[in-house]
Amino acid sequence: MKIQNILFALGCGLVSQTLAVISWEEADKKASSFVSDLSEAEKIDIVTGYMNMQGTCVGNIKPNSRKNFKGLCLQDGPAGVRFNEGTSTTWQTGINSAATFNKDLLYKIGKDQGAEFYAKGINVALAPSMNILRAPASGRVWENFGEDPYLSGVCGTQITKGMQDSGVIVSAKHYVANDIEHNREASTSNMDEQTLMEIHVEPFYRTVTEGEAGSVMASYNAVNGVYVVQNKKVLTEILKEGMNFQGFIVSDWWAIHDLEGSFNAGVDMNMPGGKAWGPNYINDSFWGSNISNAIRSGKVSSARLDDAVKRIIRSMYKMNQMGNFPNVNLRAQSMHTETHRQAATESQILLKNDDNVLPLTKKYRKIAVIGKDADKAESCTDTACTNGNIIQGFGSGTTDFTGITDPYSSIKNRASKEGITVVGSISDSANEGANAARDADVAIVFVRATSGEEYIVVDNNKGDRNNLDLWHGGNDLVKSVAAVNKNTIVVIHAPATVNLPFINNVKAIIHAGMPGAESGNAIASVLFGDHNPSGHLPFTWAKREEYCCDVSYPGELPHGGDSKTTYDYKEGLFVGYRWFDKKGTKPIYPFGHGLSYTTFEYSNLSSSLVKSGTEVTGLKATFTVSNTGSVEGATVPMLFLGFPNVSEMGDYPVRNLKAFDKINLKAGESKTVTLEVDQHGLSYYNTNKKKFVVPTGGEYTVYVGKSAGDLPLKVTLKNTQGSNEGSSAGGNNNGDNNGNNNGNNNGSNNTGYDCCADSNARVQYTDESGNWSIENGNWCLICPEKPQCFSISLGYPCCQGNTVVYTDKDGKWGLENGQWCGIADIPSPSTGCPYQTKNGYPVCKTTTTVVYTDSDKWGVENGEWCIMCN
Ligand code: NOJ
Repeated sequence: MKIQNILFALGCGLVSQTLAVISWEEADKKASSFVSDLSEAEKIDIVTGYMNMQGTCVGNIKPNSRKNFKGLCLQDGPAGVRFNEGTSTTWQTGINSAATFNKDLLYKIGKDQGAEFYAKGINVALAPSMNILRAPASGRVWENFGEDPYLSGVCGTQITKGMQDSGVIVSAKHYVANDIEHNREASTSNMDEQTLMEIHVEPFYRTVTEGEAGSVMASYNAVNGVYVVQNKKVLTEILKEGMNFQGFIVSDWWAIHDLEGSFNAGVDMNMPGGKAWGPNYINDSFWGSNISNAIRSGKVSSARLDDAVKRIIRSMYKMNQMGNFPNVNLRAQSMHTETHRQAATESQILLKNDDNVLPLTKKYRKIAVIGKDADKAESCTDTACTNGNIIQGFGSGTTDFTGITDPYSSIKNRASKEGITVVGSISDSANEGANAARDADVAIVFVRATSGEEYIVVDNNKGDRNNLDLWHGGNDLVKSVAAVNKNTIVVIHAPATVNLPFINNVKAIIHAGMPGAESGNAIASVLFGDHNPSGHLPFTWAKREEYCCDVSYPGELPHGGDSKTTYDYKEGLFVGYRWFDKKGTKPIYPFGHGLSYTTFEYSNLSSSLVKSGTEVTGLKATFTVSNTGSVEGATVPMLFLGFPNVSEMGDYPVRNLKAFDKINLKAGESKTVTLEVDQHGLSYYNTNKKKFVVPTGGEYTVYVGKSAGDLPLKVTLKNTQGSNEGSSAGGNNNGDNNGNNNGNNNGSNNTGYDCCADSNARVQYTDESGNWSIENGNWCLICPEKPQCFSISLGYPCCQGNTVVYTDKDGKWGLENGQWCGIADIPSPSTGCPYQTKNGYPVCKTTTTVVYTDSDKWGVENGEWCIMCN
C-alpha cells in the first residue's frame, strides 16, 4: 500500500520534472535581464497590440529585431485553432470536453490542441473558457465547462497543463462573471464577495494555482459597477496578489476604454491594440505612446510598465518560447483526430433509454434516420449558420471545418456492417420524417439549437438564445415521428438544455452537445454500443423557469459607458444543482446524469480527514464501484461535500462537488476507488478574514454517487479542525478515520504488513484493507482479535447507524444505502450506552460536561472527543 503511494509520488515528481521547462523564479530572472535594456518605446510595443486584428493572428505583438524578439501571436480558441483553413482539428466544444468527466483525457485534449497551436507558431491560445453556466440560454455556455466551479476548475487546469506542456501559453478567459451576451460590454455583474470568490473566480483559482496559467483574459463586463479591465480589486488584489499569479493579464478585444484605469488596475496587454474594430484604428490606441505621456505626467508609473512587460516575457520564458519558437504560419498542418474522436465519443450523454431500446443491434432490420441535423455541418464564417448538423456554436470560439463526419453517413456505414438497412429523411419536414419512420424498427430523430456571441445574430438570436425550444421545428418533427414509431430515439445537438415536450413519447434521448468534426462517428459509435456511453451532464437539465437565473434582453447600450445593464447574481452561492437542492426541486435530469448500457453499484464508503497538527488539510474517501451489468463500461463516481452546519458558514449549499474520477470496469468487475479533497476544497471564503478557511466544529457529510441526484453513499465526519483530535504525534498529514463505516476490517491480514502490536493503536489512515497505524516507523494494520461486527464474516458491512430493521440468530440487521449491514451490538453496562463506540469515538466515562451537541452529545476526555450516553 505505502510502497505504491511512494512510487506514485516519485512518478509524479519525475513527470513534472520532465515537463516543467523552468520554474517561474528562473523565468523571472531571465525576463528581468531581457527587460533591463529595453527602451520605454520598446516596452510599450510589448504591452500594446498592433495591427488591431488586421494582421495574421487575432492578436499580435510587434517583433523587435534588435532584441531578436519575434513578437507574439495570439489566436482563438477554445475549439481548436481559429482561422486554420482546414489544417487542424475541428475540436469538440468546451461543454463537451467537460461532459467526458475524464481528467486524463482533458489533459490530452490540452496537450494535442497545444501541439496544433505550437505548430503554427501561436504563442498564446485564447482558451480555456471557464465562465459558469447560470442560465442555459446564455450564448457562450458551449465554450465553457458547465455550472459547477470545481468541475470547471478541473477542466481548465487539465487543459491548461496539457497546452502549456506543449509549449503554448493559455489565456484563461473570461475573467470574470462574463455570463450573458446582451450588453456584455455595458453591463455589470453584481454579487457579494463570497459568491464572486467561491463560484466565479474559483475555476480561475485552480487554473492559476495548479495549472500555472501563463495568461488570463480580463472580460468585457463590469463586476460590482467597475469594468473588469479597470477593476483593481479583481485584477490585482484577487488575481495577482491573492493567487500569486505570475503570468500576464490581456484585455478582451477592445474591452479597454481608457489608459489610466486599465493600466493601473493591472491589465498587462491591450488587445488587439486599437480603440475600436477596424483598419482605421491601427496605431490608434488608448495605450501605445499615450503610456509615455502618462508616465511623464505621473498618471501611470514606469514601474507598472516594467511589471507588465516582465509578466509577458516571463510567461514566454516559462513556456520556453524565447528560443526556437516556430514562425507564425496558421496553415501549418497539425491534426489530432484520434484524441478528438475519443473526446467527442465520451461526451455523448445518454439521458434516457427505456426498455433498453439502445444499443442498436441486428434485432433491428431497418433504421430510419431523420432530420437535417443528421446532415453534414454547414460551414460559414464563425459558424453562424444552422443548415445541417450543429457541431459548434457561433462566434470567435469556432474553428474552420475539416474532416467533418455527419451522423447520417456514419450510421449508414456502421449499420451496413450488421446488414441493417438505413433509410433517411434528411430534412426537417415532419411529414417526410413520419413517412420514413412508419415502417422502420427504430427511428432516430436528429434535432438542434445553437447560440453564440452577441456580435452575430442568428435567426434573431443575438448570441443568447431567445428561448430553449429546438430550432427548425424540431418539436414537431419528433412529435410526428413518435406518433408512428414506438421506438423513437432523439439525438440533440445543442449548447445546453432544450425543452423536451416529447420526453414521455420517445424511448431514448441522447444529448450530443456540440461534438466537433467527429460528430457523426461519435454518435454512431454510441448508438451501436461500440462505445458504451459514458458522458455526464455538466449542468442541470430543468425547465427554464426553474433555474436560479435567466438571461434578459436589454436594449443595446454604448460599450464601456457609464450606463450599464445590471445583472444581479441574487442566487449567490446557489447556482446549478445547489439551487435545486435549496429549493427541493427535482430537475428533469440532475447535474452529472448520464446512463450507460451497463449498471453500476457503489458500496462500502469510508472516509477520513487528513490533518497536519491541528489543521484539517484534506479528506479521503474510499469506496467500491462494481459493474453489475453484462458489458464493459465506465462510471464516474462523484464526491459531494456537505459543510458543517455552524454559524460562521451562514446559509450554505447542501452539497458541493469536490472530487470525481472516471473508472472503467469490465462486466462483473469491482474496483476500490479513493477520491481526495484538498484543503481548499474543504474551505469556504470568509469575507471577514478575506480568505478561504476551514470552518471549525460541526461535521462534514461526504456523499458519493453517480450524479447530484443519485448519491447512495453517505458518511459524516466530525470536523476536528483546530483540535488535536485525529492529529498524529509527529504532526504528519494523516488523520483519523471517524467516518469509517467499520465494514472492511475482517481481522485477517493478507496485506503483507504486520498487525499492529499495540492493541490500542491509533488509526492514521484507512483504506480497503482496514485501519492502519504506524509503529516504529512502519505501517501496520490494526487487526482486531475478532471481527468488529458479526456481519463482516457473513460478507456484510457494519452499519453506521443503529436502526434495527430485522433480527435473526446472527444478530441485529440494518439497511443502509440499499445494503444490509450488521449492527455492532456491544452493550456497555457501565454507562448504559447502547453502543460502545460510534464512528470510532469512545463513550465518555463521565456524563457531566457536554462540550458540543449535534445528533449526539459530545464531551472531551483526556483531549479526546467522546460520546455521552444518557
Ligand atoms: C472576443 C471574445 O470574447 C474572446 O473570447 C476572443 O478570444 C476575442 N474576441 C478574440 O477573438
